[in-house]
Amino acid sequence: MSILQAENVVKTYERPGSTTVEALRGVNLTLAAGEFVAVTGSSGSGKSTLLTVLSGLDLPDSGRVLIAGTEVSSAPEEKLASLRNQKIGFIFQDFHLVPSLNAWENVAFPAELAGKAEARAQARALLERVGLGQRLASFPHQLSGGEKQRVALCRAVINRPALLFADEPTGNLDTRNGQEVVELLLELKAESGSTLLLVTHSEALAGLAGRVLVMSDGRFL
Ligand SMILES: Nc1ncnc2c1ncn2[C@@H]1O[C@H](COP(=O)(O)OP(=O)(O)OP(=O)(O)O)[C@@H](O)[C@H]1O
Ligand SMILES: [Mg+2]
Repeated sequence: MSILQAENVVKTYERPGSTTVEALRGVNLTLAAGEFVAVTGSSGSGKSTLLTVLSGLDLPDSGRVLIAGTEVSSAPEEKLASLRNQKIGFIFQDFHLVPSLNAWENVAFPAELAGKAEARAQARALLERVGLGQRLASFPHQLSGGEKQRVALCRAVINRPALLFADEPTGNLDTRNGQEVVELLLELKAESGSTLLLVTHSEALAGLAGRVLVMSDGRFL
């Protein structure tokens, strides 16, 4: 069964001086439930754009994206918001934690948004699970890069999303912290039965995936 389907997805950006960049030039992709797919390719080839469009964070100019059977372009904003909250987890290279919330609050937030009474308890259990049980009250600026990424990982999986997107999740981490984050990511992915689409420049990390897709100039090679 497919959890994500992209058909002929095109995305262009306007650049100052009215030139346009074709970041995605007709991408087709089907992801099956539970898959781990890695995306590689040179800088500027469209990998981050692909993730933002496939996750519904941004809309394509043309083509279709279906997430769990819902067409993203035509879904009303309210439906899209709940889809993002409940079906999708996103991990960024630079963490994207909310600076004014502590680790515990950052992780609990998506579950509270989904109206889960157990949000706080689940967030605490997840943070303990990734070795941050003593850092619940720490704010992002008080955490190391590896710690911040482990918080971001907990936040991404708290609603057990069908789809996990990760854009160079180890790009800002040293080798040891990167390996730790990858191990935890794969463990938590397996537990929630999520599909993982991960962008990386690391051949070693791509090698762990079931499929590797190479992007070049807005298309898969
Ligand atoms: N918001 C934007 N406005 C204008 N152009 C953009 C914007 N975002 C990306 N681009 C352009 O779209 C193309 C694809 O960018 P994208 O960020 O998807 O590449 P990438 O493969 O993720 O690169 P990297 O490996 O460096 O992260 C590039 O030419 C980039 O300059
Ligand atoms: Mg990128």
